[in-house]
Amino acid sequence: MTANYTSPISPISPIGPIGVFDSGYGGLTILKEIRRVLPQYSYLYLGDNARTPYGTRSFDVVYRFTLDAVRYLFAQGCPLIILACNTASAKALRSIQQHDLPAIDPSRRVLGVIRPTVEALGRLSSTGHIGILATSGTVNSHSYDLEIEKLYPRFRTFSQACPMWVPLVENKEAEFPGADYFVAKYIDGLLVQDPSIDTILLACTHYPLLYPKIRQYVDEKIRIVTQGDIVAHSLADYLLRHPEMERRLQRGASCRYLTTEDPSKFTDLAQLFLAEPISVGHVSL
Ligand code: DGL
Repeated sequence: MTANYTSPISPISPIGPIGVFDSGYGGLTILKEIRRVLPQYSYLYLGDNARTPYGTRSFDVVYRFTLDAVRYLFAQGCPLIILACNTASAKALRSIQQHDLPAIDPSRRVLGVIRPTVEALGRLSSTGHIGILATSGTVNSHSYDLEIEKLYPRFRTFSQACPMWVPLVENKEAEFPGADYFVAKYIDGLLVQDPSIDTILLACTHYPLLYPKIRQYVDEKIRIVTQGDIVAHSLADYLLRHPEMERRLQRGASCRYLTTEDPSKFTDLAQLFLAEPISVGHVSL
């Protein structure tokens, strides 16, 4: 057979695990659901715990930190990376997709969590009045407002930044009584903006770890949406539509964890949440 020299040459990376990235533990809430829906693949989780939180940092810093992580996960052979972090999806995803990916390796993919979440919101709200709880970075980026306006022009969005929630989770304080003050404060700050909010989106992947407390302060008529299940089904759909990517994913149902902080610290909290023994390695970005 003769080679077709007119075809573009694309650098094909080897088969590898799906990379899942977050500033810290939050992405585990996404990873857990992805593994439930797509248990056949192997995964490599990276938490930048040493530099968390990202939510209060500038665009430039979040972009630089996220790009460090993407480059690292690519170097480990991941053909596909999920930014399981709203702040990184809001502040870094577009630049990475448009400017960095073409130069690094156009055959690989980096996907975020905002678009699939917004698509799902259309099916969930009746009043179209959506409350968004997120980091200051995500709120100030207006990524959700803009994306929701594009897909559902009649919807209205109301946002509340919750800068203390990620530190509560990262410091294992989420379940203690001290957390109640900040949970109630931010929920009041959201609900006071509009009495017709019927759906509240937890638009930070750390927040499901505060879910039991959040639920206590929100009227039961209001639906609280978390992203894990939404992102997992959206990824399954993506892989059905992209068999060329699906073929490059390593199978074997394994999952490795890496953190930029102390692995024993990471293991403690992650194990509580994942309820299975895990092995965690250290990495410097
Ligand atoms: N879990 C992240 C998010 O979804 C980031 C939180 C942070 O580092 O501030 O936004």
